[in-house]
Amino acid sequence: MSLPGQTTGENLAATNNVPAASTPIVAARKSCAPEAHGEILKVSNLGLTFGTLHAYEGIEFSVREHEFLCIIGPSGCGKSSMLMSIAGHNWPTAGEILFGGQPVRGPDVERGLVFQEYALFLWMNVFDNVGFGLRMLRAATGSEYRRQVEEHLALVGLTEFAHYWPYQLSGGMRQRVAIARALAVKPRVLLMDEPFGALDALTRRALQQELVRIWQLTEMTIIFVTHNLQEALYLGDRVLCMTRRPGRIKKEIAIDLPRPRDVEDPSEEMKQIIKEMQDAVYSEVDSPRGHGA
Ligand SMILES: Nc1ncnc2c1ncn2[C@@H]1O[C@H](COP(=O)(O)OP(=O)(O)OP(=O)(O)O)[C@@H](O)[C@H]1O
Ligand SMILES: [Mg+2]
Repeated sequence: MSLPGQTTGENLAATNNVPAASTPIVAARKSCAPEAHGEILKVSNLGLTFGTLHAYEGIEFSVREHEFLCIIGPSGCGKSSMLMSIAGHNWPTAGEILFGGQPVRGPDVERGLVFQEYALFLWMNVFDNVGFGLRMLRAATGSEYRRQVEEHLALVGLTEFAHYWPYQLSGGMRQRVAIARALAVKPRVLLMDEPFGALDALTRRALQQELVRIWQLTEMTIIFVTHNLQEALYLGDRVLCMTRRPGRIKKEIAIDLPRPRDVEDPSEEMKQIIKEMQDAVYSEVDSPRGHGA
């Protein structure tokens, strides 16, 4: 089932006030031990053509449960289109997407989609925005509904702002609202398309940290598109590097480094990973002959 807020895009973020791992929200999601993590998503020979334009083609990859997968690639190589395909909002012209072993045939609340653009409902206050999905799905009512909304507001540190309107919030706060709204319906996978792209460097760094903390508190799987190589290094368990359009997976880089990662003062290993990403992607950046966006 799709959520209107998810079809138009959302921004995810969080804050410093993430509760301890013993809170109900965490208990509800921690369903299996790390070693039990299996494959949650499998993409096989996926392609998408818009008329005569090949957005992406021959895409093959798998994602395991609770993995944090980053995707980088030149502008116009089909990253957003591919995320939309995984979300079930467009129809690939080739190949197959299996989610939990089942073919993706349309949007589903288990696959939340999050975009760079703010996508709050301007006519709802923060509390109602966060509760929107729960109301749509009739997932909770009465005091249980209020409890769940409050829990997610606390998760992103916005308890005091429950009655604010979107226009009264900063960009970072709006994204916290969006993350709370996305998390409230307990997606198994969050598909995030440059969610921090519009933020200043400091806010971006804070939200990266909080996203990792929330991800660590839950069993969520995240697929995160970014143009920022440092961001991929900070966030990802693995990075997929795409070619120019039609986008293909060019290289896969595992980031097997402990967290938190100090990307401001990178180790030799981090520098090496950044270099691998640069080598993979910079050579794909637009040429004057019109590849790319
Ligand atoms: N609905 C559509 N109809 C026609 N063409 C489309 C549509 N959506 C995307 N495209 C085209 O598909 C190609 C890939 O677009 P997409 O937005 O997926 O790229 P991207 O990798 O996300 O780029 P960016 O990094 O700039 O966000 C582009 O050439 C774009 O013009
Ligand atoms: Mg895009």
